[in-house]
Amino acid sequence: MSRLVVVSNRVAPITEGEATAGGLAAGVMDALRHTGGLWFGWSGQTVPDVVPPESLPPGLPPAVARSGPVTLYTTDLTQRDYDDYYRGFANGTLWPILHHQTGLARFDWQEFEGYRRVNAHFARHLADLVAPDDVIWAHDFHLLCLAGALRDLGLQNRIGIFLHTPFAAPSVLMTVPVHAELVRALCQYDLIGFQTEGDRTAFADYACRELGGTALEGGAVSVEGRLVRTGVYPIGVDVDALRAEAVAGAGEPQLAALRSGLAGRALMMSVERLDYSKGLRQRFAAYERFLARHSEWHRRVEYLQIAPPSRTDVEAYQAIRRELEGEAGRINGRFADLDWMPLRYLNRSFPRRALMPLYAAARVGLVTPLRDGMNLVAKEYVAAQDPADPGALVLSQFAGAARELDAALLVNPHDEAGVAAALARALAMPLEERRERHAAMLRVMRHNSLERWRDRFVDDLRALSTGERGAA
Ligand code: G6P
Repeated sequence: MSRLVVVSNRVAPITEGEATAGGLAAGVMDALRHTGGLWFGWSGQTVPDVVPPESLPPGLPPAVARSGPVTLYTTDLTQRDYDDYYRGFANGTLWPILHHQTGLARFDWQEFEGYRRVNAHFARHLADLVAPDDVIWAHDFHLLCLAGALRDLGLQNRIGIFLHTPFAAPSVLMTVPVHAELVRALCQYDLIGFQTEGDRTAFADYACRELGGTALEGGAVSVEGRLVRTGVYPIGVDVDALRAEAVAGAGEPQLAALRSGLAGRALMMSVERLDYSKGLRQRFAAYERFLARHSEWHRRVEYLQIAPPSRTDVEAYQAIRRELEGEAGRINGRFADLDWMPLRYLNRSFPRRALMPLYAAARVGLVTPLRDGMNLVAKEYVAAQDPADPGALVLSQFAGAARELDAALLVNPHDEAGVAAALARALAMPLEERRERHAAMLRVMRHNSLERWRDRFVDDLRALSTGERGAA
């Protein structure tokens, strides 16, 4: 069978036990661990000067590492590439737009040029690595222009992309001056995968209304003479492996330290990159309201917020960090006592292996993003629970995961009073109800497993025959 070639900006940490950088890298690594394959992406390093692939001696690929059956190839970026592509267009324009934060988005032509330049740089490296019958699976919003760049180099391979983030509503996408170029570039892929039907529909609506496309049966869209397939592939987790990690870590000193600090108090817990899309500010406010309204929980509950700093050289991330530091201090100042700290706010990351036993110990998992492609933390939290005595999940209705995990306590993260009431309800939820909700969520998660996500996408991509592709 032809090889699977995965491309993403961020590749999994190469050293075992390193903290994972976000949902994408962990999910892709888990998915590839079983099938094996080749994975290409950015090394995470910036260098003064990058040797263009065409100047490398023949047969010498970029840096290589092995992680089990996965061969990782990476390339460095120059500081200018990093500034224009990663810090600039990807994280300063696309990320806020896809998360409907138009106020935080900026646009700069030079950065967009840099974005295209790096997509072309990736394409030139890939062209040296792939065989004609390999299938190429690109991931996420960093690589919207990759398929076009590969086609420009004459590659006829089957090329698909999966978008881990949401897709923006057409009216929001159109605030980016290059919206049409971006969607045209996306249409150079043979298959585009989305997390939810809402995201897929937003893309198809844009393609039909703004580019005069036609939606065809089975999710295909014909746009300006090209036929592009679309599909919904909600990313999953490996439920049994995560539960096994939670159980295996039960004796770890870290968990013992947490328990001794808790001194029998109920634990509420959240973990995410420190990102404005995650709804941390609104969640802190909801927790404050909960504490103000529910004095019966004083000294009986603790909220542990783990938020490793992310994209720290993007201004909007510095601003949210400053704001949260102030809020965490203020909330503790208002409610803490000599023997009780209601909020523990940690700006550091933990390897996933270490988080699973902590999730299992948490009575409530709080996942309340303002908008999120899927949110794998919600699924990891559910997977980590002891089915005989599971914790309760409070989940934003705006996370992709809410489509599947409708047995969670669904909340609107903008409704402080509603979230505060959900916290009280989750903390007091009877065992029987917790079990029922947990079992229902686990059923969906077992069905929409990580394997199914991978296999459905790759099978759909492989199934496209040469004749069917491209021309509409
Ligand atoms: C999200 C994105 C990923 C990204 C991750 C971490 O999950 O969908 O593409 O890798 O955040 O962000 P970073 O900028 O550190 O790669």
